[in-house]
Amino acid sequence: MTIKDIQEEILKLKKEKDICILAHSYQAKEIIEIADITGDSYKLSVEAAKVSSKNILMCGVHFMAETAKMLSPGKNVYLANPEAGCPMAEQMEPDMIRALKDMEPDRKIVCYINTTAALKAVCDVCVTSSSAVKIVKNMDAHKILFIPDCNLGAFVAESCPDKDIKLLQGGCPVHASVTEEEMDAAKSAHPNAKILVHPECIPAVTKKADYAGSTSGIMEYAANSDAEEFVIGTEISIAEHLQYRFPEKKFYILSKKIICPNMKMTTLVDVYNSCKGIGCGGGYEIVMSDEEISAAVSCINEMIRLGG
Ligand code: 13P
Ligand code: SF4
Repeated sequence: MTIKDIQEEILKLKKEKDICILAHSYQAKEIIEIADITGDSYKLSVEAAKVSSKNILMCGVHFMAETAKMLSPGKNVYLANPEAGCPMAEQMEPDMIRALKDMEPDRKIVCYINTTAALKAVCDVCVTSSSAVKIVKNMDAHKILFIPDCNLGAFVAESCPDKDIKLLQGGCPVHASVTEEEMDAAKSAHPNAKILVHPECIPAVTKKADYAGSTSGIMEYAANSDAEEFVIGTEISIAEHLQYRFPEKKFYILSKKIICPNMKMTTLVDVYNSCKGIGCGGGYEIVMSDEEISAAVSCINEMIRLGG
């Protein structure tokens, strides 16, 4: 079977079984092509709440499928590859955050969407990389604890100097692996290029970039800029997607280390097998109790309210 054949089978199964496929922009091109909705974490969460199909299949990592389930609790939500998790989502224990909250009750807890539902349940509002600055600015609270990503947190703190923002030591191991030396080397190698990075990178890297923003922000910047060359400082799939979309422009990667093994885990065959299994006892379904959902969903709803 060729890639095209598998894609056609998926399109048939999707129709037959009323499946809506959501794919994060870090997914491979052949998956993006058969998805109904693609985008960054913020777009996927907002759109997940509006889906009318009976089944949702998430191509991304576990917290994204969990978020979709919480926003569409009446739907059957599946994750295309059950092994795909985000290491950052597991970095902090709810009990530890609860203890910090008890020590300083007037400090609001802002969590990145890359967290488990159990952790979201002890937080006040969640944010994505594209909505973090806007949401923190829109919050009534002055004192904030931002978890788990100290790099995104530092980026937010820089943009919201009037807020008292505390951080903890956590973050994305993939983006945080990029060094300032790699940034300097990219600048020397491509002096005419615009350097676009994700705020999950360390501050020494984001500070030297022409633009720091979410996956979608980076793609929009590259699409709308008159520049002809770009260095992309996020998962390498984004440079690849952009190069296909804009063959007249040149895209370089900031570092060969920015490959997320979890985002790369999902294959087109996983998507096909999931579609085949859905409705026949197969597929990896996200199962959450009403209690788990109601404890965690309010901080996602708060994100949509403050970020909308
Ligand atoms: P965004 O989709 O918010 O850009 O986040 C990138 C990411 O690392 C998702 O896991
Ligand atoms: Fe998690 Fe980083 Fe991979 Fe995103 S890129 S899923 S934050 S490890």
